[in-house]
Amino acid sequence: MEIEFLASPVDRAVVDRVTALVNQVYAESEKGLWLGSTDRTSADEVAGFVRAGEVAVAFVDGDLAGSVRVQRLDEATGEFGMLAAEPARRGLGVGRELVAFAERVSRDAGCREMQLELLVPREWTHPAKQFLAEWYDRLGYRVTHRADLAVDYPHLAPSLATPCDFLIYRKALA
Ligand SMILES: CC(C)(COP(=O)(O)OP(=O)(O)OC[C@H]1O[C@@H](n2cnc3c(N)ncnc32)[C@H](O)[C@@H]1OP(=O)(O)O)[C@@H](O)C(=O)NCCC(=O)NCCS
Repeated sequence: MEIEFLASPVDRAVVDRVTALVNQVYAESEKGLWLGSTDRTSADEVAGFVRAGEVAVAFVDGDLAGSVRVQRLDEATGEFGMLAAEPARRGLGVGRELVAFAERVSRDAGCREMQLELLVPREWTHPAKQFLAEWYDRLGYRVTHRADLAVDYPHLAPSLATPCDFLIYRKALA
């Protein structure tokens, strides 16, 4: 498996594939949480992230197998998000390697902590979210913030199909 940041100038074909992958996997992992369109991102947004040097992709046998956005929140904190693994290649370590990559580049850049965000339905259990919560716990992430999404992000409240909690997880980078 090869993991690398996408470089500028933006390759629109790769951006379109990453956008489609992220929207495809989030449609499943956020099923039931949103009213109307479930698109997590757009090609223009992904292109902007690529220009900012934030999008890393995993290739297996030359095929796109996953992607992740890695950001620097402040001097000491890195964050990863929009983590996606190709459904046909699940369970082969693509997600784990992308998280390890995000942690490694953040640590190398001088960050001491890593952060991620998770949206979960408050009144029922979503299998994909349950899996993520258990996996992030195994990876050493702990919840440092939990709030009603409608309070943290009021503009998103009308789009929610069900009450959701917004969680922030953090982990110290050794
Ligand atoms: C989360 C996601 C990226 C994981 O990708 P993946 O490549 O399948 O994950 P990996 O193969 O690296 O496995 C990750 C962990 O899940 C476990 N796992 C994988 N498939 C599993 C299965 N079918 N049943 C149980 N556990 C499984 C692995 O053992 C591993 O655990 P470990 O690191 O403790 O050993 C992928 O499921 C995905 O794209 N989900 C939808 C998008 C999403 O929810 N993103 C995160 C938003 S915060």
